[in-house]
Amino acid sequence: MSAPLIDPFQRAITYLRLSVTDRCDFRCVYCMSENMQFLPKKDLLTLEELDRLCSAFIRMGVEKLRITGGEPLVRRGIMTFFNGMARHLESGALKELTLTTNGSQLEKFADDLYAAGVRRVNISLDTLDETKFAEITRWGRLPQVLRGVDAAQKAGLRVKINAVALKDFNEEELFDLQSWCAERDMDLTFIEVMPMGDIGNENRLGQYWALDDLRARLAERFTLTDLAERTGGPARYMRLEETGQKIGLITPLTHNFCESCNRVRVTCTGEIYTCLGQEGKSDLRAPLRASEADAPLEEAIRAAIGLKPKGHDFDYSRQELGGQMSRHMSHTGG
Ligand code: GTP
Ligand code: 5AD
Ligand code: SF4
Repeated sequence: MSAPLIDPFQRAITYLRLSVTDRCDFRCVYCMSENMQFLPKKDLLTLEELDRLCSAFIRMGVEKLRITGGEPLVRRGIMTFFNGMARHLESGALKELTLTTNGSQLEKFADDLYAAGVRRVNISLDTLDETKFAEITRWGRLPQVLRGVDAAQKAGLRVKINAVALKDFNEEELFDLQSWCAERDMDLTFIEVMPMGDIGNENRLGQYWALDDLRARLAERFTLTDLAERTGGPARYMRLEETGQKIGLITPLTHNFCESCNRVRVTCTGEIYTCLGQEGKSDLRAPLRASEADAPLEEAIRAAIGLKPKGHDFDYSRQELGGQMSRHMSHTGG
């Protein structure tokens, strides 16, 4: 083990989010424009390089590894990578190996993911209405994702549904989503829409639905108990006493949670972003390729974490997009 990773604000970095591809088989309107320019394949880290990179982070104290995209399961050969990471679970160095997915490929991969040691998946799903689903994801089809959810549960994976809270879109579906998750024993997390990347004509401020309001609506129907328990992610959870289910809120706009940030992101080309809401990044690909020894890589990781900023500057309070990022969410995987 190397010395743990501590940032300039004394936060221990124990959670790595690794984006294994910027590509996706959907084109969600709040995430991508319809005509996205994707990275040339030659710029991607190989599966072996991704393995070396994650192994270095794990040696440096990372205990939770979340694979993201784009859509991680469209990366060719991705199960080879998951199967490789299983050794870190077996050694006990890694406590959790998981992924965030749009669910489109889960029917195919759920059993293999379980076999690799994955026990929990977060599936992004904003609506249960087939027409609206096709509208918001542009290319996605709801039945395929629902089959993915079924397959995940059948494989023994615990499922959390992530829904971006969108005004005039899934507002009226709040209780449908809540009761569907209750029936299926799935957790549910709502996310405030963040100003990530140019999305063409879609208007973010118009999409924004503050989760304080969502919470108030839940409270009209249910008794809410705030829970102290944490998954190591940014969500704050509450229990609905009448159903016993857990609902999480991710509130970068209304309640900043940067103080307890424990994570960094690495893209599929080996850039490390130490904050989702800042432009700062460092390159890990050059040090990774410079030497077969891992010392230059570890040094570069430490240097990058030494530059981790205090937090994001997302702000809609002046009726304009404060703290907007130039990159899309699919670049860093959320
Ligand atoms: P759990 O392990 O289930 O707690 O997951 P998680 O919340 O860590 O991961 P998930 O991929 O489900 O994250 C949901 C969303 O939260 C992401 O897609 C981002 O939109 C948002 N999010 C995660 N980390 C951060 C962060 O550091 N800052 C901000 N602003 N948003 C974040
Ligand atoms: N704001 C908030 N969440 C977003 N996601 C994608 N783009 C945005 C955005 N601009 C979500 C997806 C998925 C996760 C990876 O990030 O719906 O749940
Ligand atoms: Fe793909 Fe997820 Fe972005 Fe939708 S939000 S386009 S599923 S990466």
